[in-house]
Amino acid sequence: MAPEPEDDIKDEKNPRPLDEDDIALLKTYGLGPYSASIKKAEKEIKEMAKKVNNLCGIKESDTGLAAPSQWDLVSDKQMMQEEQPLQVARCTKIINPNSEDAKYVINVKQIAKFVVGLGDKVSPTDIEEGMRVGVDRNKYQIQIPLPPKIDPSVTMMTVEEKPDVTYNDVGGCKDQIEKMREVVELPMLHPEKFVKLGIDPPKGVLCYGPPGTGKTLLARAVANRTDACFIRVIGSELVQKYVGEGARMVRELFQMARSKKACIVFFDEVDAIGGARFDDGVGGDNEVQRTMLEIVNQLDGFDARGNIKVLMATNRPDTLDPALLRPGRLDRKVEFGLPDLESRTQIFKIHTRTMNCERDIRFELLARLCPNSTGADIRSVCTEAGMYAIRARRKTVTEKDFLDAVNKVIKGYQKFSATPKYMVYN
Ligand SMILES: Nc1ncnc2c1ncn2[C@@H]1O[C@H](COP(=O)(O)OP(=O)(O)O)[C@@H](O)[C@H]1O
Ligand SMILES: [Mg+2]
Repeated sequence: MAPEPEDDIKDEKNPRPLDEDDIALLKTYGLGPYSASIKKAEKEIKEMAKKVNNLCGIKESDTGLAAPSQWDLVSDKQMMQEEQPLQVARCTKIINPNSEDAKYVINVKQIAKFVVGLGDKVSPTDIEEGMRVGVDRNKYQIQIPLPPKIDPSVTMMTVEEKPDVTYNDVGGCKDQIEKMREVVELPMLHPEKFVKLGIDPPKGVLCYGPPGTGKTLLARAVANRTDACFIRVIGSELVQKYVGEGARMVRELFQMARSKKACIVFFDEVDAIGGARFDDGVGGDNEVQRTMLEIVNQLDGFDARGNIKVLMATNRPDTLDPALLRPGRLDRKVEFGLPDLESRTQIFKIHTRTMNCERDIRFELLARLCPNSTGADIRSVCTEAGMYAIRARRKTVTEKDFLDAVNKVIKGYQKFSATPKYMVYN
């Protein structure tokens, strides 16, 4: 997106306002050529599926189980008997390709090499040399072409299903949302602003604050909002058994991120790996630290990182290594504080939105009764109020249920709260 150097000089003398074409072009940033049409098709498919389900009278159940009337155990059993598991092999060579009697040399790991034919369901055009294939266990005929092998632990981390959390589901946290969007969305949607000013956009954000104040929630909202690829890593996933494994995972992760047009990497609970370096006295340096150093290295970006933004979240910012936090790596630090009265009221409203409540519950009064509590506490109050209603065999939740729940959760569970401890440490 950066303009040519000559353009730049010209621009400085005589800044040209963006015309409509430029704006249209910028808006396509981060989108693939078919994004819009794919989205449209996906929407249509979803609608069609819904329509079909409606016609069939299939209802989606909350438990995820199909209704027993739709179980077909007999034919399921029969299918299991007919379809035998296949074995994975590699097709190393094709003998007489493009002819009637083409034969395939396959290599089944730890068994042997075979020269085999094709099954009935595969066409010769599907199979290429060096491909992974599925073969049956009797005649070792090729039954199915398989996709290439990819490191599963890294690819598993991409979030493909967008979470259904939006910014509207985050109560309060106005500043935090604003700051986060500034770092994540602005450079992706308006890269020209940064180019014109001649600064690099911030690379990453560190979110910190007491547990349950919505750090993970906000990251999920960001993931929902953006068209970019979203990779979510939990700090502890990077702690591996063997030396160098964690660092390798970090490297592969950023490699994958770099292969995308635009990508957001979210490290949750980063204190698991980002702890300050120390000498453990035994002389062996710590594998965990090596993983962290690799992250630092990748953040510095020896090769250009393109459009990668890094988000991190932690409850214990004081334990993090200063190297990770120095400006230029994670430029932005966003504190998630305890919600104020207005935010708490809003959070109450968010969590009771789907609940079957009495008409006029005084949420502000409830919020007033929960001083110093986090979003997670308030959510727990709502759940507990629902439990009271269930116990009393009622179908709606009353204000009295909420008051009881406040007593139980806020007053009763105080000793489990981690918030005071957080306040002491930080
Ligand atoms: N500001 C908020 N608005 C609405 N719900 C919140 C808020 N903060 C926390 N919650 C509730 O608390 C739960 C836990 O929050 P989470 O973001 O996972 O905490 P953490 O900050 O420890 O990562 C969320 O799933 C959400 O239901
Ligand atoms: Mg969290």
